[in-house]
Amino acid sequence: MAGEAKDLDGKVAIVTGVGSLKGIGAPTVRMLAGAGAKVVLADLAGSQLEETTRQLASEGFEVACRPVDISDEADVKALMAFTVEKFGRIDILDNNAACQGQAEDGIITELSVDLWDKIMGINARGAMLMCKHAIPHMIAGGGGSIINISSGTAHAGDFYATAYACSKGAINTLTKYVATQYGAQGIRCNAIAPGLIMTATLDIAMPKPMQEVFRSHSLTGKLGRPEDIAEMVTFLASDRARFITGQVIPVDGGIYAHIPTVVEVAALFKQG
Ligand SMILES: NC(=O)c1ccc[n+]([C@@H]2O[C@H](COP(=O)([O-])OP(=O)(O)OC[C@H]3O[C@@H](n4cnc5c(N)ncnc54)[C@H](O)[C@@H]3O)[C@@H](O)[C@H]2O)c1
Repeated sequence: MAGEAKDLDGKVAIVTGVGSLKGIGAPTVRMLAGAGAKVVLADLAGSQLEETTRQLASEGFEVACRPVDISDEADVKALMAFTVEKFGRIDILDNNAACQGQAEDGIITELSVDLWDKIMGINARGAMLMCKHAIPHMIAGGGGSIINISSGTAHAGDFYATAYACSKGAINTLTKYVATQYGAQGIRCNAIAPGLIMTATLDIAMPKPMQEVFRSHSLTGKLGRPEDIAEMVTFLASDRARFITGQVIPVDGGIYAHIPTVVEVAALFKQG
């Protein structure tokens, strides 16, 4: 209904990692902006940041964009200054950008220090820098909500994505430290730990038999969609989540909620 108040009316958000329409970032921007927020999209220079922003603006959302390398402190400061100049304040930060899917990110004894530093430098340092430079603006505006996009990979061991998973573990801890240090100033900080989210990019990159393995371990029998994460971001950004802070919230179809052997043991029982 025209004129009806929305949850995020008057709020200004930054969402990083929106360099294409194919990931989790673009649906998140749609949902935040649909709830009334003005949104600054950020991603690396050379990504499709501007095309993505133009597309979302053409859908009627109030958006702007600014290239950023989240691992670069000067860039991050400039992104905050741009946002305040453009929209006047910062209320919501969705730390969605990440370096992921590196084939060489394997077992520890074969892991290169350069790759470890690169992934930690983008994912852990990047999230820290974004918090560091958003928080003063949020405090100036009376508070805010920070949402760090973590990963279920930080919850258990694997043979793949060692540095990536460790960087997400750092983000989980960062989340609790930010929530502790700035709660009294009206800042809530939470992390979302997605399970496998079938973005357009992953749907092409991941072989169907592999998708089926993940589906068989989903307690809902479904794979995740980008909108599942966008919903949780939008909720955590709003005052409806006013009593939730310092949490790492799985949005993963319950894949980490069950004992890993459940599927195989159930199959054995069925066989009799
Ligand atoms: N898709 C999944 O299954 C899944 C599962 C768990 C967690 N996640 C997390 O969700 C978030 C979004 O993932 P996605 O699947 O949409 O991936 P995506 O690759 O579409 O988005 C990540 C974006 O981050 C940007 N980025 C990388 N390095 C950057 C830097 N230094 N500065 C600024 N931007 C940078 C990339 O350019 C890219 O556009 C990530 O944090 C990812 O780790 C995704």
